Amino acid sequence: MRETEKRAREAYVEQFGGEPEVVASAPGRINLIGEHTDYNEGFVLPCAIDRRIAIAAARNGGEMLYSADFDRSRPLHLEDDSWAKYPRGVAWALREAGHEADSFQAALAGDVPRASGLSSSAAVEAATALALDWLFGSGLDKKTLARICQRAENEYVGVASGIMDQYASLLGEAGSALLIDCRSLEAESVPLDLEGVGLSLIVCDTRVERGLADTGYNDRRAACERAAETLGVEALRDATEADLDRLSGEELRRARHVVTENARVLRAAESLRGKDFEVFGHLMYASHESMRDDYEISTPELDAFVETAKANGAPGARLTGAGFGGCAIALMPSGNTETLAEACRLAFADLGFGEPEFYEFVPAAGAEVVG
Ligand code: GLA
Repeated sequence: MRETEKRAREAYVEQFGGEPEVVASAPGRINLIGEHTDYNEGFVLPCAIDRRIAIAAARNGGEMLYSADFDRSRPLHLEDDSWAKYPRGVAWALREAGHEADSFQAALAGDVPRASGLSSSAAVEAATALALDWLFGSGLDKKTLARICQRAENEYVGVASGIMDQYASLLGEAGSALLIDCRSLEAESVPLDLEGVGLSLIVCDTRVERGLADTGYNDRRAACERAAETLGVEALRDATEADLDRLSGEELRRARHVVTENARVLRAAESLRGKDFEVFGHLMYASHESMRDDYEISTPELDAFVETAKANGAPGARLTGAGFGGCAIALMPSGNTETLAEACRLAFADLGFGEPEFYEFVPAAGAEVVG
């Protein structure tokens, strides 16, 4: 068992007495490339990271949820705006889909940084879905569970996100990125052997509150839908570069990002297969520019990190996740990550930005039942 899984199990025993019937866990994610393409039925290339949320659960009991990280208990059957809405939402979505998920108690513990755009909420959902599927013997596959988690997020929590985060958390594989076709929902592992080529993925958490994230996210979605309508296509996935001539203003900028980003994802997956990290890195920078100029979801802090990475010899860098704050990533020669972190701290201080935080993650396994 991993540390987080042991913590969840111990928290269960302490809170509820007796042993849990199941322990499961699921990872957070970073997205290597393919931003805001999932809800346009396009392509994404995320990977699961070695930070997880674990859940220890059993049927019946006092119908309570306990978070070891917050040291708080919340009733299972109640509605409030706390961390408990994620496991509750998954139980709700399972029941809505006709599966049993009514009476259980659970303890959660994790180490995915929260509110940073690393999908800690998708990790809670994925771990809960897997544990409940096991507890109640529903026998659902991971793709079905991912869609149930997305429904929980969209309809219970009320965030209009795409499928990427839940897919990455449930279906990610160690040492790999996951190429997802968000229309057919086919997913394919693509080897991501960074160590073998002497590279590391450094993550800069700008610690900028993603305050406008929900409004900005919904605005972007709506603009994409309008652009698709103008073009007479089902989703921007179906638009081509030539189609862009028929758009103008905001619709043009948003659609141009989506159309070019989809193409970049496919080329990025190809370059990963060929271990061509130079091409991969160029695609990351191009993706960032497209998000900065056309999709307009970057911030001065995210831009400063990407520029500092470039100035320090990073083969590629870009913001990752929804944007409007949160994290950016860079590929860096493994020996030079601390140099980049230090240069970035200095740049942020010079610019009057708050102090960023840095992480290094490795591509890790998706959700698992471990005990
Ligand atoms: C958030 C959403 C995802 C995806 C990204 C942007 O992480 O949850 O579905 O849309 O933003 O790529």
